[in-house]
Amino acid sequence: MADKDGLKVAKDYHLDKAFANMGSFHVKGADSLDWGMKKHLSRIFNPKTGKTVMFAFDHGYFMGSTAGLERLDLVIPPLMPYVDVLMATRGALRSCVPANNDRGIALRVTSGSSMLNDDLSHEVVAVDIEDAIRMNADCMAVQTFIGADGQLSSIDNLSKVINAGFRYSIPTLGVVAVGKEMERTDRFFKLATRILAEMGCQIVKTYYCDNFEEVVAACPVPLVIAGGKKLPEKEALTLAYQVIKGGAAGVDMGRNIFQSTHPVEMAQAVRKIVHEGLTDKEAFDFFEDASHK
Ligand code: 5RP
Repeated sequence: MADKDGLKVAKDYHLDKAFANMGSFHVKGADSLDWGMKKHLSRIFNPKTGKTVMFAFDHGYFMGSTAGLERLDLVIPPLMPYVDVLMATRGALRSCVPANNDRGIALRVTSGSSMLNDDLSHEVVAVDIEDAIRMNADCMAVQTFIGADGQLSSIDNLSKVINAGFRYSIPTLGVVAVGKEMERTDRFFKLATRILAEMGCQIVKTYYCDNFEEVVAACPVPLVIAGGKKLPEKEALTLAYQVIKGGAAGVDMGRNIFQSTHPVEMAQAVRKIVHEGLTDKEAFDFFEDASHK
């Protein structure tokens, strides 16, 4: 391991140069993966745009009943036509999501804490690979706590899931956790996203920050961006626009869709930014028109 003292500050991100190893496959860093992995990644990232709208409603895995998700059976089905991927627990999927849909599946496979704990950073792998295969998961989502008390166990969880994923060609989505004590700076996100990519994740979920383009450039696999806490719709659409402009391969949004005054129209507006190239202003105009009909 390199000596930590006297480290130079990383600065050569070559923002003017596209990722050099794209090959013919449309997903960053995935050109050398096998057919099965690529098939799953193609259900997540649209082959025409290279991007994705993931819809996260896995909050119950540690928050229990969450505002906007009180009735998964009623809330999720109307949103499904407008998103590419459903990110959820196996319990939510099996009990509340009709199987006769063709959305991609990002299966939450770690668990271990709840809102009653101060430190949320200790998790285990709670879903085995056979069940991910049975559910036809397109990726397995693992929470990772870089810089937190639970870092070692979350890296252990991540490695186990990535190893199992390689055995059966199922990609792993590494989710960068942020906590009360953890900074939300480009320095932190460059560290965390790069560690996850170098561990072998095929997709990394993180947060928007200053110098976001550098975070994207330094990460050799696609980044999808969490929405975070509920914002006014206009601001949430600006966030979606900024992350796409900054080079993210998509969003993985939860509360800013399901807690919106008009969740379906919000999902449609986000989709227009991600896949159709609308600006935040154009998407907000769409949202206003569509939600006043
Ligand atoms: C937690 C997660 C959640 O799925 C995600 O944060 C939910 O999305 P949002 O923040 O947009 O409500 O991955 O780390």
